[in-house]
Amino acid sequence: MRTRVTDMFGIELPIFAFSHCRDVVAAVSRAGGMGVLGALYFTPEELETELSWIDAHVDGKPYGVDVVMPASYEGADFPPEELVGRLQAMIPDGHRSFVEKLLASHGVPALSGDADAGKVLLGWTDATARPQVEVALRHPIALLANALGPPPADVVEQAHAGGVQVAALASTPRHALKQVEVGVDVVVAQGTEAGGHTGEISTMVLIPQVVDAVDVPVLAAGGIGNGRQMAAGMALGAEGVWTGSLWLTVEEADTPEMAKRRILAATSRDTVRSRSWTGKPARLLKNEWTDAWESEGSPGTLPMPLQFMLVSDALRRIGRSDAAELATFPAGQVIGLTNQVRSTKDVVFGLVEEYADAVERLSRLTDG
Ligand SMILES: Cc1cc2nc3c(=O)[nH]c(=O)nc-3n(C[C@H](O)[C@H](O)[C@H](O)COP(=O)(O)O)c2cc1C
Repeated sequence: MRTRVTDMFGIELPIFAFSHCRDVVAAVSRAGGMGVLGALYFTPEELETELSWIDAHVDGKPYGVDVVMPASYEGADFPPEELVGRLQAMIPDGHRSFVEKLLASHGVPALSGDADAGKVLLGWTDATARPQVEVALRHPIALLANALGPPPADVVEQAHAGGVQVAALASTPRHALKQVEVGVDVVVAQGTEAGGHTGEISTMVLIPQVVDAVDVPVLAAGGIGNGRQMAAGMALGAEGVWTGSLWLTVEEADTPEMAKRRILAATSRDTVRSRSWTGKPARLLKNEWTDAWESEGSPGTLPMPLQFMLVSDALRRIGRSDAAELATFPAGQVIGLTNQVRSTKDVVFGLVEEYADAVERLSRLTDG
């Protein structure tokens, strides 16, 4: 398969896989696509370890790194050394007690002696993402991607100076235009059905609008779980696909067991767009956690990054408890299609085979 993105990155398949799991990233790149590691949860030191591992396991194939530098968030103008303290002070007591009561009502215990307690804010701000960018650019990455808005122009310049292409996620044609203005090379047009932070427009409606708005190649994201959906994305004008939820249940994925089980059993109705994780709308597994934030007693969510600071310890406590009904996780509507565990390589090859079948079927329609 050949498009502008396969030429740009020297890859065989225009299949991009976002994952927080290094094994998945390396396996997708080795299979001919492009694995992209989500840096969000890693400290710069941890990211260094992950990327060194990928370098050693990717057989020289290209891979990427994704950071989250939101265009807007509370405290964006605070000096970095005061950021955490000033933001912590902005979280109302009523919100803290709502979270504690919710956990208590589900029997979630406190964490004792947890080294990670208080490890908040990672990657959700410009100040915390920049050190990740520095680490990433010291590795032979082919792509730097940014979520939640156009990356800062100086970061784009820095990446380009190192021969690294830049991608950014867009959920409207206006976002896409802003990204191209700062020099982004590839736009990932992501529809509302996607897992994680997401806009309101569906993939089917969004892709042609973004393709028509920009000259750079567009990747279709949101709801791509099989080769027929890939063919649809390409038919809409995309030059490749960018996938996320699909990789949560592959053999290599380090997704928490509780979330993996729910995702395998889920239908496409089991996700919801909610601010209860980070303060910005993100598609998550729908459960008693997401319901509680919409309930009558809810104090409402806080803006980014305060909401994640408020809930990150709580989410860790839930993860280590038996309260599966509260365990939330980013996941897209396409989880309704993922109901068996397969190897990453099988999933990549399955996408390609089914894509080829779909294209052939369509061409037979016109031949006839
Ligand atoms: C668990 C999970 C976490 C995500 N975290 C990020 C992130 O940190 N940065 C980012 O750019 N996109 C993130 N996304 C969105 C993906 O990059 C991708 O656009 C999306 O998953 C595509 O839609 P799909 O889930 O329907 O495949 C995440 C998606 C999932 C499922």
